[in-house]
Amino acid sequence: SGSPVTITITGAGGQIGYALLFRIASGAMLGPDTSVRLKLLEIPQGLGAAEGAALELQDAAFPLLDSVDVTDDAGRAFDGANLGLLVGARPRGPGMERADLLEANGGIFGPQGAAINAGAADDVRIVVVGNPANTNALIAAAHAPDVPRDRFTALTRLDHNRALGQLSEALDAPVGEISRVAIWGNHSATQFPDVSHATVRGRPVPEVLDEEMGPDAARTWLSDVFIPRVAQRGAEIIRVRGSSSVASAASATIDHVRDWVHGTDGAWTSAAVVSTGEYGVPEGLICSYPVTGADGTWHVVPGLEPDAFAAQRIAASVEELVAERDAVRALGLL
Ligand code: NAI
Repeated sequence: SGSPVTITITGAGGQIGYALLFRIASGAMLGPDTSVRLKLLEIPQGLGAAEGAALELQDAAFPLLDSVDVTDDAGRAFDGANLGLLVGARPRGPGMERADLLEANGGIFGPQGAAINAGAADDVRIVVVGNPANTNALIAAAHAPDVPRDRFTALTRLDHNRALGQLSEALDAPVGEISRVAIWGNHSATQFPDVSHATVRGRPVPEVLDEEMGPDAARTWLSDVFIPRVAQRGAEIIRVRGSSSVASAASATIDHVRDWVHGTDGAWTSAAVVSTGEYGVPEGLICSYPVTGADGTWHVVPGLEPDAFAAQRIAASVEELVAERDAVRALGLL
C-alpha cells in the first residue's frame, strides 16, 4: 500500500481524538490502499490518555497502521506531517472573556503553525477542529508563512452534515438524495445554513418546502426552526447526551479530509477555507463556503447569487469573523 501518509493529531488524548484514531487507522479516511503513520500530540496532562489510545490501537491490529508516536513536543509531532488534524484547543472556562479565550488559543495555534512551517511535508494539509476553529486556523496559518494559505482550513462539515440530517427528516428523503446544501461563515451560532440552492431528488428544496408547507410556513420553518436548530445543535447534544458532540465531530473530520484528498466528483460540501475575496468576504479570512473538492484542492462554488436574506445572514457571520480577526490582531497573535 505505497509509502505511509503521516498524520498528526493534536488533542489526541481527548474525546474526539479517541473517536478519530480508530477510524483513521481502519482506512475510513484515506481508503483501503493507504497505510498511515500516526503522530499524537498532547500536553503533558493528556499524554497518558494518548498513550493508552496508542496501546489500544496496537491491540486493534489494523493492517494499515504503520506506526503510532505519542509526544508533547510540537516540533516532533509535525515533523514530516502530510496531514494535520488540529483538535486540541483551550475550552472557554467559566467567566472567561473572549479576549482571554483567543489569547489562550493563540498560545496553542501560533506555536503549532510555526512547527508546521518548520517541519511538515511540502504537501501538508491542515484542518482545525478545536474552537474557535476559523480563527485558530487563521492564527496557525499566520505562523506558517512558507505554507500556501489554502492548506489551512477549519471544520464546518459537522454543521453541513447536521443541515443534511435536518433536511432529510423534514423532507422524508435519505441524505444521499439531497445535494447543494451549504454552510456560510463562522463555525459558531452566527453560521448560515443555506438551502436556497439545495435539491432533493433533483428538485429545488425551496420549491418542495413551499409545496409541502405553503410559502409563509416554509419561510418561517427555515428561519425559526431549521437554521437555529442546525446552528445550536451542539447545545442540544450537550443537553440530551450530557456531553458534547464527539463521534459526529470525528466523523465530519474524516469526511472533510477524505473529500479534500480524494475529491467530491463535483458534489458540493462545506468547508472553511481562506477567502480570496469570494462573495465579498474580506481576503484572508477563514470562512465557510459551499465548496467542491478536486485535485487535492477545495474550490469555492462560483457564480451563486445570494438573495437579500442570505446576503444579510452571510454578512452577519462574516462580521463576527472580522471581529475575531481584529481581536487576535490587537493581541499581536497574527
Ligand atoms: P477534549 O477536552 O476531550 O480534548 C481536547 C484535548 O486536547 C485534551 O486531551 C487536551 O489535553 C488536548 N490539548 C489541549 N491543549 C493542547 C495543546 N496545546 N496541544 C495538544 N493537545 C492539547 O475535547 P474534545 O471533545 O475532543 O473537543 C476538542 C475540540 O473540538 C474543542 O475545542 C471543541 O470545542 C471542538 N469541537 C469542534 C467542532 C467543530 O465542528 N469544529 C465540533 C465539536 C467539537
